[in-house]
Amino acid sequence: MVNEKFVTAHYENEDLFKMIEEGLKTMAVDLDNVKIEDLSPVDEFHLGGADGTRFVIEELKKVKKGEFVDIGCGLGGPARHISKILDRKIKGIDLTPSFVRYGNKLSDLVGEKDSVDLIQGSALDTPFASDTFDAAYMVHVGMNIDKKVELFEEVKRLLKPESLFVIYDVMAVGTYPIDYPVPWASNESESAVENLENYCKYLEQVGFTVTKSQLLAEFAKRFIEQTIEKRKIQGIAPLGLHLLLGETADIKMRNVFDQVLKGSLAPGLIVAQAP
Ligand SMILES: C[S@@+](CC[C@H](N)C(=O)[O-])C[C@H]1O[C@@H](n2cnc3c(N)ncnc32)[C@H](O)[C@@H]1O
Repeated sequence: MVNEKFVTAHYENEDLFKMIEEGLKTMAVDLDNVKIEDLSPVDEFHLGGADGTRFVIEELKKVKKGEFVDIGCGLGGPARHISKILDRKIKGIDLTPSFVRYGNKLSDLVGEKDSVDLIQGSALDTPFASDTFDAAYMVHVGMNIDKKVELFEEVKRLLKPESLFVIYDVMAVGTYPIDYPVPWASNESESAVENLENYCKYLEQVGFTVTKSQLLAEFAKRFIEQTIEKRKIQGIAPLGLHLLLGETADIKMRNVFDQVLKGSLAPGLIVAQAP
């Protein structure tokens, strides 16, 4: 069973805001004029970065009104990106206190404080009222939550009838054992990677209708090859996911890249409609 305390400890980083400020300064970004795009190398914590979030945006575009909820919002990069493109108010919930605290500071820094509000808490037991949101999405979070049926029940509770739930998570392909550490887990006890079929099965079990489910393996492989190439030429950028991954950043990235390139892991995209 995945223990939320271990998951929080895996991600928690009190120095993160200082590190992000230092990275921005090194990149000669004026701290009084930071743009959402300046932050994306570090605040879009998933395969494909901002390009990965675009798959979610393509689906959420169909929701013409209302407020969205971001399940496992992290530092809030996807929320700020989606809010800016679709002009929506978004509430995020995340387990990791420093991500929520610094994520709200980053929203303030880029002038998105009124649109994006991040709250600390578990996705399995959120403080939001039932029937509140017009859409929900979750980006690279299910890999830390083994109680997926409970998770999907909670998301269903938050959604108004027939609202969309979009998932973009790392999923297992086949039955290969996972090599740890990876960006979301130092070892197996923090990890709950599932395959696309099981996600769909659990969603249907709680009453969602799955309208799309696909693996984005080729997209992820291309992204990884380009990232490796860029790093060979430019070295480590001042602002990047390595700031979130600590001392074992290199091995975590190498392990997930290798497993995606080998085909045993891939990001999956699911669109489901609440009952
Ligand atoms: C890989 S990060 C992705 C963050 C963000 N969605 C993004 O794409 O930038 C995974 C996030 O899930 C959060 N998380 C994991 N388990 C959670 C849970 N049970 N409830 C809420 N958040 C959780 C972690 O704190 C972390 O911020």
